Amino acid sequence: MNAMPGMGGAARIVSIEGIARRFPGLTVFQDLWFHVDRGEFVCLVGHSGCGKTTILNILAGLDVPDEGGVLVDGREISGPSLDRAVIFQGHALMPWLSALENVAFAVSCRNPGWDKARVRDAARAALARVGLTQAAERKPAQLSGGMKQRVGIARALAVEPKLLLMDEPFSALDALTRGTLQEEVSRLVTEAGQTAFMITHDVDEAILLADRILLMTNGPEARVAEVVQNTLPRPRARANLHHMPGYHPLRDHIMDFLITRSRTLAGKPPEGWDSRRPPVVVPAEA
Ligand SMILES: Nc1ncnc2c1ncn2[C@@H]1O[C@H](COP(=O)(O)OP(=O)(O)O)[C@@H](O)[C@H]1O
Ligand SMILES: [Mg+2]
Repeated sequence: MNAMPGMGGAARIVSIEGIARRFPGLTVFQDLWFHVDRGEFVCLVGHSGCGKTTILNILAGLDVPDEGGVLVDGREISGPSLDRAVIFQGHALMPWLSALENVAFAVSCRNPGWDKARVRDAARAALARVGLTQAAERKPAQLSGGMKQRVGIARALAVEPKLLLMDEPFSALDALTRGTLQEEVSRLVTEAGQTAFMITHDVDEAILLADRILLMTNGPEARVAEVVQNTLPRPRARANLHHMPGYHPLRDHIMDFLITRSRTLAGKPPEGWDSRRPPVVVPAEA
């Protein structure tokens, strides 16, 4: 779902305002600005080490920027919250709980007033949406990698977060499972009108899922060099993505960035650079 233009602040779920993160001898990034609007799916693409996980951890409230701030619904965040559910690269399930109990635990944290039956019903419904009804009573050790990631997806969506955060959630899976889960996430997020922010270095994954793709230069002092608008119509399917008009210019543009410009643009920004307004590109029209 695309964010509605002209809604200004009302549509803005997340504002990243001039954040910096530094470690001794290393500025991972500084003066970083971007936003995510309600119902939007934003992907962040960049090479290893440019600071993607650091950004996601800051959004999740698991890390704190050295400068700048993060606003969610106009309010500065302070620590983790179920408003911002994370799907991690590893599944991060509690091994002693069944799939159903893992989801139910999150639902009950989110809705402390709900009785047991209501929590279980909501957790069952969430598992059903990812096709895991039959596996509800199984422990993580009894589930395949793809099934564990599905439980993670069900758990994240079951708390109806304002913002769904994903850090390369499918990168540990085989190609077939990855493709299936990408399409499931696409469908679930679209159905729920869920606002999402995802990190990936899989270009086709970004093209399948995102409304906007933020391209980050290599670190240190990484920055969002460009914002790519993905105007490919929805629904999108992996199987026919490459037949869609506009797909190839879009893919070429991102690949060129990753192969060349992520490196040549790295380091000090050019004269007159405004980090609040990186260039917006629509490759399909270029
Ligand atoms: N706790 C830390 N202490 C020191 N350096 C760190 C720490 N966390 C991350 N870094 C460094 O910050 C940079 C960005 O890391 P990260 O956000 O994990 O990148 P990405 O997810 O894009 O691969 C890397 O150079 C990494 O080594
Ligand atoms: Mg990372």
